[in-house]
Amino acid sequence: MKRIHHFKEMKSRGEKITMLTAYDYPTARAFDDAGVDMLLVGDSLGDNILGYDSTVPLTLDEMIPFARAVAKGAANAFVVADLPFGTYEVSPEQAVESSIRMMKLSGAQAIKFEGGRRIARQVRAVTDAGIPFCGHLGFTPQSENALGGRRIQGRGDGGYDALLADALALQEAGAFAIVLEMVIAPVAEKVTAALDIPTIGIGAGSATDGQVLVWLDALGVGDWHPSFSKQFAAVGAVMREGAAGYIREVKAGSFPSADHTFDE
Ligand code: KIV
Repeated sequence: MKRIHHFKEMKSRGEKITMLTAYDYPTARAFDDAGVDMLLVGDSLGDNILGYDSTVPLTLDEMIPFARAVAKGAANAFVVADLPFGTYEVSPEQAVESSIRMMKLSGAQAIKFEGGRRIARQVRAVTDAGIPFCGHLGFTPQSENALGGRRIQGRGDGGYDALLADALALQEAGAFAIVLEMVIAPVAEKVTAALDIPTIGIGAGSATDGQVLVWLDALGVGDWHPSFSKQFAAVGAVMREGAAGYIREVKAGSFPSADHTFDE
């Protein structure tokens, strides 16, 4: 079973950390069997699984059963669960209450939520409550409206300084790792080098201490995937072929055959 100290050790010896999103039990089991280090029950389940237009409408009550299913399916991987928009921003007390609720009801081992210096008090309160915390900087989807859309981060004068200040504030507040999303590679590399805790990149180049991808993008479930992702499989095509074979055989009367029938 992976623990937070393993990730710091992996950073020190230069071993890359792997993280994939998962939203249900069979997917968690498959990725755990494959040897992934961390599973993220991302609030991307709002758009990827529940069909919302963004992560913003998702609630804590909606997230908890998905996180519980993933935690059940993970034998070795370390399970991190997102707190959705609106469940931690108001105060440190709100962040601790939401984190405790998620941890108790889901069995996840750590909490992630978005932001840097502006939520550092919340992070300190959560880590003081004994809850491992993973940060999320760069493009933060819950603030998509404030950021003016899906924009690449870290560019321009002050881009690096602002990101570094946010990352150091999270490290100081007790975070054990930080996800860097859609950050230009040279800035992600410099921030990674400046931190004691590992960075996990998504669209942030190859110099981060680990990588995370949304599994539906990485395994080719849909037709579209973001340019920073790669399709390592064509699961969508395999599902369509399987479903088409089933429909064909039922219509033709060749399924169920004698092999799939109880005689007496
Ligand atoms: O919700 C999510 O899937 C995430 C990843 C994009 C890192 O936060």
